[in-house]
Amino acid sequence: MENIRQKIEVLRKEIEKWNYQYYVLSQPTISDFEYDRKLKELDELEAQYPEFYDPYSPTQRVGSDINKNFVQVEHEYPMLSLSNTYSEGEITDFYTRTKKSLNEDFEIVCELKYDGVSISLTYENGLLIRAITRGDGIRGDDVTANVRTINSIPLKLQGSGYPNLFEIRGEILMPWAVFNRLNEDRSEEGETLFANPRNAAAGTLKLQNPALVASRKLDSYLYYLLGENLPYEGHYENLEIARTWGFKISNAVKKCRTLDEVFAFINYWNTERKNLPVATDGIVLKINSSKQQLNLGWTSKSPRWAIAYKFQAESAETRLNSVDFQVGRTGTITPVANLEPVFLSGTIVKRASLHNEDIINTFDLHIGDICYVEKGGEIIPKITGINKESRLLIGEKIKFIKNCPACGTPLVREPNEAAYYCPNHAHCEPQIKGMIEHFVGRKAMNINAGTETIEQFYQAGLIRNIADLYEIKTEDILKLERWREKSAANFIESLKESLQVPFDRVLYALGIRFVGETVAKRLVNAFHTIEGLMSASYDQLIAVEEIGDRIANSILAYFTDESNRQLIEKLKSYGLRFTLGNEALAGRTNVLQGQTFVISGTFSIHSRDKYKELIEKNGGKNTGSISAKTNFVLAGENMGSAKLEKAQKLKIKIINEEEFLAML
Ligand code: IVH
Repeated sequence: MENIRQKIEVLRKEIEKWNYQYYVLSQPTISDFEYDRKLKELDELEAQYPEFYDPYSPTQRVGSDINKNFVQVEHEYPMLSLSNTYSEGEITDFYTRTKKSLNEDFEIVCELKYDGVSISLTYENGLLIRAITRGDGIRGDDVTANVRTINSIPLKLQGSGYPNLFEIRGEILMPWAVFNRLNEDRSEEGETLFANPRNAAAGTLKLQNPALVASRKLDSYLYYLLGENLPYEGHYENLEIARTWGFKISNAVKKCRTLDEVFAFINYWNTERKNLPVATDGIVLKINSSKQQLNLGWTSKSPRWAIAYKFQAESAETRLNSVDFQVGRTGTITPVANLEPVFLSGTIVKRASLHNEDIINTFDLHIGDICYVEKGGEIIPKITGINKESRLLIGEKIKFIKNCPACGTPLVREPNEAAYYCPNHAHCEPQIKGMIEHFVGRKAMNINAGTETIEQFYQAGLIRNIADLYEIKTEDILKLERWREKSAANFIESLKESLQVPFDRVLYALGIRFVGETVAKRLVNAFHTIEGLMSASYDQLIAVEEIGDRIANSILAYFTDESNRQLIEKLKSYGLRFTLGNEALAGRTNVLQGQTFVISGTFSIHSRDKYKELIEKNGGKNTGSISAKTNFVLAGENMGSAKLEKAQKLKIKIINEEEFLAML
């Protein structure tokens, strides 16, 4: 037993070290494959020997608090903001003011101002015990369960010399690469895009599902220590030692003595920051010595010993030539400004999003207006205002269209949404083509047909909906330009192969609004067949994890439409898969990863053993008795009263068979 414990300890230490090297230093020392193998080994050992459970083990980052509302916690020290400036003159003023009031030598620490969500982490005896958002500065949300999933935040400190109790503050960030991928996925799924990585990080931290948070790959930088017994008098020195405890501290930190050095730092990072993997929006200057900080003091809003210099968001002025209204695959209308080409932070900008009707009206936009275009955190340039003074001739006023630019159908606007859409889903050309493009996509049916092919088939009258694809014959294609026997055969073969695509991907391929890959998987696991899904009620739909009001209504609307029902009948007749395959039913998932269950009572849908098997196959753990570590009690008929009492006392969630099956 003792050597098992040691083995577990060694694995945990090793994995912590690799985590640190990978996530904090960005210098991996072993292959992903080797890492995964070791993590799995540890996971299995821990499952086999639950007596060595440790909530701080690297296997326990994704914990167990699904659907728990955030608790508000008061900050030990209020989280103030910083005074901001865009002017170099005010930086000089800050320096002179400080010099005058201290009347002695001082050091200024220059740092990057990270543009994310601020967080306060509390460590007790080297363990992360709490993570709180800024909130209103006095009280914030306890988001510990979510923050634990961020790999660059140590659960357990390394090294030595840390106080028994201290707080460290910093920023939670979504790296650009993760943000861009997330938005691409959301766009494919017809979901609204996050405007910038900060919003995406904030939205992610507020999710009620730590496993989902973990999948979003957030990162962190920490920049401020607080506590009674910090090791050093200087802020800079405290940051340096915190680095040795395993925190991710930026390397872009410099101790300066003169204003020249400060401006050199500002100028260097003003351009160099564009090469960083995360968003920054300025430089923070802090007086290093904590005695001097105390001397300078605080105003009610911010410290007098620090100031933020903000970078100008890059913007340019250019003329609005025209506005297009684009129709997306789900019918959403997006207004897009066509601009006189202008150079802006490294690229030529010709088009910019105008978002929606409300924004167009707020700007009182006219053709020929000189607009301000910005490329701040956003991927798509946006118009942030217009220069009314330079409006010489007033062109035509931009009015949001009332009818679909493609098919003429009157547009509709949902009560709680800013966007208009064309409801003529079945007959509106860009929607049809968009739907078909989505249907054939790699993550959907993976059929050999690109945008041009679809355009060609559409023009030839071969396709008017996704089902028509399966009616296409080799002879039809060979009549078209550019097609040869070989390419036609390839296409027909890929159609045939698509009949093997599993149900969840078929469901995703249908292009139901808000039904992305993950949602499709959840629906398929919950309802198993298309008939089951089509007859599901609103309540049954929202009982499925991650499915809320918006998705449920979209699914109901889709199946209420008779033409969609006919479409599905047709697709069925071609042999597409609309049921969960037996092999998939037998398959394993990790939806219950990290969840511990106790089964009690007798059941009617499946046997007790079947439930045990299901829990294990889906990554969960079975245990015999209820303890604080239990996440769920799966209760059947006649559950023992002692067990019931214990579960209630420990506030453990008690679920029945249906609820359990819905989790899968
Ligand atoms: S120090 C009392 N350092 O900027 C001083 N803040 O407007 C505490 N921020 O809410 C903050 N990078 O979220 C500090 N290197 C940095 C920072 C930084 C970004 C954020 C932080 C704070 C806001 C202040």
